[in-house]
Amino acid sequence: MSVSKYFLLFLVGFTFSLGYSQSKLEEETNNLRDILKVFFVPVETNTAFLKNEKSKINLGRHLFYEERLSVNSKIACYSCHDLNNCGTNGSYYLKQKAEGDFFRDVPTLYNVATLPVFNADGGIRSLKEKLYDSFFNRYEMNLEDENLLVKQLQSVKKYSKLFESAFPNEDEAISFNNVIEALEFFIKGLSTPAPIDRFIKGDNTALSKEQIEGGHVFNDKNCYSCHTGSNVGGQMIQKLGIEREWPNQKDLGYYRVKRLSEYKMFFRVAPLRNVEKTAPYFHDGLSSRLWQAVKLMGKHERGLDITTTEALKISEFLKTLTGEIPLEYIKKPNKLLN
Ligand code: HEC
Ligand code: HEC
Repeated sequence: MSVSKYFLLFLVGFTFSLGYSQSKLEEETNNLRDILKVFFVPVETNTAFLKNEKSKINLGRHLFYEERLSVNSKIACYSCHDLNNCGTNGSYYLKQKAEGDFFRDVPTLYNVATLPVFNADGGIRSLKEKLYDSFFNRYEMNLEDENLLVKQLQSVKKYSKLFESAFPNEDEAISFNNVIEALEFFIKGLSTPAPIDRFIKGDNTALSKEQIEGGHVFNDKNCYSCHTGSNVGGQMIQKLGIEREWPNQKDLGYYRVKRLSEYKMFFRVAPLRNVEKTAPYFHDGLSSRLWQAVKLMGKHERGLDITTTEALKISEFLKTLTGEIPLEYIKKPNKLLN
C-alpha cells in the first residue's frame, strides 16, 4: 500500500470516529435536556410584570436601599443582600446567643420569589411572611416598632409621591403593609436567566461539552432527588446528614421551629441558582469551595465518596446556573433627602 492509501484510510477512520463522537455528544446533550425537563422549570424575565408594576417596583427599589428603615438608620436590606454580588455579602450573622453561638449564611435574593420555603431552616412559607420576618428578627433589621418606621418615611416629602403613585387609591399610602408590598414586588423582579434556561429551551450551544458531562454526573449521583424545581432546590426541607452525621450540630435547623426530635438537623435543600458566586456554602458556611461542597453532599446526603474529578465535573455543570445580574434594574437610586 502506498503512503497516500494509508493516509486515505486514516482520513476515513478519523472522519468516522469524529462523526461517531459527535453523534454521541448529541445523544448525551438531548438526553440531558430530557432529564432536566423533568426536574426543572426555566427562569425567565417577566417583562410584562416589570412594565405594568413600574411604580411599586420603583418604590421597592428605593426602600431596599433605604437605611432609614432600620432603628439606627445605619443598615438597609442591601447592607447584607448585596445585589451586585448575587444578593449576598458572603458572610453570615449571629442568630441567637441564648441557644449557643451559631451563624446563618446570608442567602441570595435572586429568583426566590416563587419558592415555597424560606430561610435555611425552612421555617417560613411565603415571601410576604419572610419580609415581615426580615424586619422584626434580630439578625436582619431588628425593628421594634413599625409605626416609628412609618413616621420616619412620612417625614421625607419625596416618599409621599412615590407611595402615592404606587398605591394611588389609598388614603394612607405610606403604611407598613405597603412597605412590605413594594419590597415584595421589587424582589419578584429579581431574576437571573442563565445558560441552563437557554439549554432547556433548545439551545444546544448554551452548555459546553464538560458541562453536559457534569450534568450527567449530577444525575447519576441522584442529586436531583432533593435539588429540584426552578431553583434546583428550595422546594423542601430534608435532613442534613441523612447518610453520615453533619460535623456541625450547633444549629438544629427546623427543630428550632417545630420541637419534634425527628426534625433535628432538617434544613431547606439549598437553591443552587448562582451557586458558583454565593460562597460560603451551607447554613453554617462550612465550605468555601464549590467542589468541596459537592464532595460533602456526596458523603453526608448520599453516602458516596465522590472523587475530586467527579466533583469538579458537577461544579462545571452548576456554573450553568450562573445568570446575568440585571444591572439597570438593581441600580441604587439617588438618596431621597426630603
Ligand atoms: C444584617 C443582615 C441582614 C439584613 C440587614 C437583611 N437581611 Fe435578609 N437575610 C439575612 C440572613 C442571615 C438571612 C437568612 C436567615 C436564615 O436562614 O434563617 C436572610 C434571609 C432573607 C430572605 C429569605 C431568602 C431565602 O431564600 O430564604 C429574604 C427574602 C430577605 N432576607 C429579605 C430581606 C429584606 C427585604 C431586607 C430589608 C428589609 C433584609 N433581608 C435585610 C440577613 C439580612
Ligand atoms: C437528601 C437531600 C439532598 C441530596 C440527595 C443532595 N442535597 Fe445538596 N443540599 C441539601 C440540603 C438540605 C442542603 C442545605 C444544607 C445547609 O443549608 O446547610 C444542600 C446544600 C447543597 C449545596 C450548598 C449550596 C449553598 O448555597 O449553600 C450544594 C452545592 C449542594 N447541596 C449540592 C448537591 C449535590 C452536587 C448533590 C449530589 C451529590 C446533592 N447536593 C445532593 C440536600 C440534599
